[in-house]
Amino acid sequence: MTWEELENAAETCRRCALWETRTKLVFGAGVRDARVMFVGEGPGENEDLQGEPFVGRGGQLLDTMLEIIDLDRRRNVYIANIVKCRPPKNRDPLNTEQEACIGWLRAQIGLVRPKILVCLGRIAAQVLIKPDFKISQEHGQFFDVNGVQMTALYHPAALLRDPRRKPETFVDLKNLQARIRELCPETYER
Ligand code: URA
Repeated sequence: MTWEELENAAETCRRCALWETRTKLVFGAGVRDARVMFVGEGPGENEDLQGEPFVGRGGQLLDTMLEIIDLDRRRNVYIANIVKCRPPKNRDPLNTEQEACIGWLRAQIGLVRPKILVCLGRIAAQVLIKPDFKISQEHGQFFDVNGVQMTALYHPAALLRDPRRKPETFVDLKNLQARIRELCPETYER
C-alpha cells in the first residue's frame, strides 16, 4: 500500500466506535522516510479539531523536547499515535479500541521503516515494547523489537502534570540523541 492508499482507507475506518464521536482522524505527521519515529497514545481535543498529532500544550512540550536534541517534525521525525480517533473526554483508549486500530500504526511503521522508535508514555510502550512495561522504571532503556530499537519517554502530558520528572527525561533525551548519532546519523544531515 502507498501512503495515500493507507490514509484514505483509515479515513473510512469503522473498526471501533470512536469514529462516531471524533471530529477529524489524526493519522500522523512529519517526515515519512524518517529514521526516528515517535508514537503517542491518541488525539486530544486540539488534535481532534486540527487533524494533527501533538498540537496542544503537550504538543508544544514535545516540540521543545525534540528541539533539545535537534529534531523537528518538519525535518527529521515522523509522529503518530496508537489510536487515530479521539477517545471521548480524553479517557485512555480501551484495549478493544487499541486492538482495532493497531493495524494502521503497524502499516505506518512498515512504510517508515524507522531505526529508532520512541514511545511517548506507558500506553504506547505497553503496546509496542511489552505488555508489562513500567514507565517509571524502564523509561529511557532500549529494547530490540524485531530489529527496531525501541525506547519510551514520559508522556509530555505527564511531564506537565509532574515537572519533577523533567530532569530524568532530559537525560533520556540526551541518551536518545547519542543513539541516533550512532545508528542513523543521517537524521542530523537533513
Ligand atoms: N497526546 C497523545 O498521546 N497524542 C496526541 O496526538 C496528543 C496528545
